Amino acid sequence: MNVMILGAGGGIGRALLEAYSSAPDIARIYATHHCEVSSVSPLIRWLHLDMSDPRSIAALADQVDQPIHRWISCTGILAGDHGQPEKTLRQLSSGKLQIDYQVNALGPLTAFSSLANHLRSEDMRAVFLSAQVGSIEDNRLGGWYGYRMSKAALNMGVRCLAIECARWRSAPVIVAVHPGTTVTNLSRAFTQTRKAPVQSAATCARQLKLLVETLDSGQSGQFLTLNGQTLPW
Ligand SMILES: NC(=O)c1ccc[n+]([C@@H]2O[C@H](COP(=O)([O-])OP(=O)(O)OC[C@H]3O[C@@H](n4cnc5c(N)ncnc54)[C@H](OP(=O)(O)O)[C@@H]3O)[C@@H](O)[C@H]2O)c1
Repeated sequence: MNVMILGAGGGIGRALLEAYSSAPDIARIYATHHCEVSSVSPLIRWLHLDMSDPRSIAALADQVDQPIHRWISCTGILAGDHGQPEKTLRQLSSGKLQIDYQVNALGPLTAFSSLANHLRSEDMRAVFLSAQVGSIEDNRLGGWYGYRMSKAALNMGVRCLAIECARWRSAPVIVAVHPGTTVTNLSRAFTQTRKAPVQSAATCARQLKLLVETLDSGQSGQFLTLNGQTLPW
């Protein structure tokens, strides 16, 4: 089985990479990195990917030479050089919103599109890490405009993908997943004062791998928690 993990240098992505690297039936892992990374297994082929650069996304297909059976997109941004999550509409900036959209929504979807010919294998499963705060129905607090809007856009893209790809000869299972609050660079600054429990990246990755390996065709096109429950869009 060949696996592709996008964002394999991040908190959840790296832990998932380690979980798949020690699985018995893995032939090849394509792992994308953005910043520099160190390898964990000879099975891994590292590919550089910048989700903010459409040329970098288009170049992915030239670097993949095997069919992919598991696609797990773990890339994403919340805060950084491009800005902080917005607390009020006075903080809205179209520049920041565009970067949020590019990295969180357009990047993962166009990367999937660029590799579509490699994603037609039997029993293909694709997971896009989204976030519950991207649920429109579940939004009662407001704020975090860029992150929420870009994850809602990703969710719509995942739903469209699942509907379209169900017409392929070997229909893949395609879902959006909220990984749960997990201690990583993305969340650290926002979880320190949180009273509810947070999980480690290793715990998240173990459950995520279990979810991926037990997904069934009836779940395609859904927005799921790590334990497979459906979330409202
Ligand atoms: N942690 C949580 O509590 C939580 C909760 C809900 C949803 N999520 C979602 O889960 C996913 C994984 O997040 P995480 O917590 O593991 O965060 P993380 O440790 O910050 O990892 C994010 C990953 O995205 C990559 N990335 C960022 N900008 C990129 C770009 N322009 N091009 C390519 N890759 C880029 C990072 O690469 P570099 O490190 O190389 O820059 C890193 O591999 C994200 O989609 C996030 O929204 C996380």
